[in-house]
Amino acid sequence: MPLMNKQHIEIRTDKTMTNFPVEKIRADFPILAELIRNKPLIYLDNAATCQKPQAVIDSIVQLYSHDYANVHRGVHTLSVRSTDKFEGARTKVKNFINAANEKEIIFVKGATEAINLVAQTYGKANIKAGDEILITAMEHHSNIVPWQILCEQTGAILKVAPINLQGELIFDEFEKLISDKTRLVSVVHMSNALGTINPVKKIIAAAHAQGVPVLLDGAQAIPHMPIDVQDLECDFYAFSGHKLYAPTGVGVLYGKQALLEAMPPYQGGGDMIRKVTFQETEYNVLPYKFEAGTPDIAGVVGLGAALDYLNDIGMANIAAYEGELLAYATEKARHIKGLRIIGEASQKGAILGFVVDRIHPHDIGTMLDSLGIAVRAGHHCAMPVMDFFEVPATARASFAMYNTKSEINVLMTGIASLIEVFG
Ligand code: ALA
Repeated sequence: MPLMNKQHIEIRTDKTMTNFPVEKIRADFPILAELIRNKPLIYLDNAATCQKPQAVIDSIVQLYSHDYANVHRGVHTLSVRSTDKFEGARTKVKNFINAANEKEIIFVKGATEAINLVAQTYGKANIKAGDEILITAMEHHSNIVPWQILCEQTGAILKVAPINLQGELIFDEFEKLISDKTRLVSVVHMSNALGTINPVKKIIAAAHAQGVPVLLDGAQAIPHMPIDVQDLECDFYAFSGHKLYAPTGVGVLYGKQALLEAMPPYQGGGDMIRKVTFQETEYNVLPYKFEAGTPDIAGVVGLGAALDYLNDIGMANIAAYEGELLAYATEKARHIKGLRIIGEASQKGAILGFVVDRIHPHDIGTMLDSLGIAVRAGHHCAMPVMDFFEVPATARASFAMYNTKSEINVLMTGIASLIEVFG
């Protein structure tokens, strides 16, 4: 049982919402009992990274205390235990996103590495000078820069589908940009800066109609909704563990087996080979072909524990509860004079970006910190989005399944007082 200030939980949760077990969930996250500047922590920076439940922390302690050795390399007991846990986590990931089999699950450092991997393997093998890669104007830098690098290397051209002032993809324009030169569409599933949930099934259908594969950057979507890659029919899906209640340093690239089989390896080293001589190397089978070197064993095991934890709660329940939180926060924010919400798509995940007249977002972040509230202020690694909305930065409250309506009340009261004093 983690250390926990029970009274603080009871005061700050709200039973008028759904029967979602938020109090029980909060008790599973030891850090939520922290006092920040002598105030109860209100952690609303979940889009940057979310906090970890005791079950994930325990899984890492258990591994290092009892089961740890290198994976895939030894016949001794600890190596077998470690390998079983590592490969067990791969099966959990496969089930969590409903991939067809474990060969389609590649462990990487995070969504960023997953996208770079596709750019440097699939991209280099299939994209040449004059070909086009299509993204949207709401992408995170990690779904822009890898393609720019590939374009520099190959002479390919990066095309950007526009968004509207609500922060939604202009689908007709997107569709028009798919041409016989398009070799790959790479689109964010849910925007980290705007919260927009893209119509990914429509996007995929439009791209596939022209024979173009689609990569979805799922870093923000995956903690907020059920993901079924077979139902989506996406060709690649990239996500990070640390935004999914798992440790940092681990993420996943899902790819359709046939595509992954045909791709050259990303990095060379141990584990990704079958046979090495000085003349030539025979590569390992999937998924190991893409997993050179000792992986983040504890990170992967922690990811498996996070998925077990989330399955117990149910992703559909999480989505419904967070939807209520977002609707509540949005309604409150709309009533604060001088506050402008950035990102008002009709389909949104639990992210509220905003600016306030005459107060810089960094000052909002600093002042909210003095109230124990953690929000992110900045460009959110999405500078083109800031340019589009003509703001240097935004403040962003991003919600998770352990946040409450009462915390939102504290946030909104805090913002309103800042505006009164400094606005
Ligand atoms: N991409 C992360 C964010 O949105 C770091 O804050």
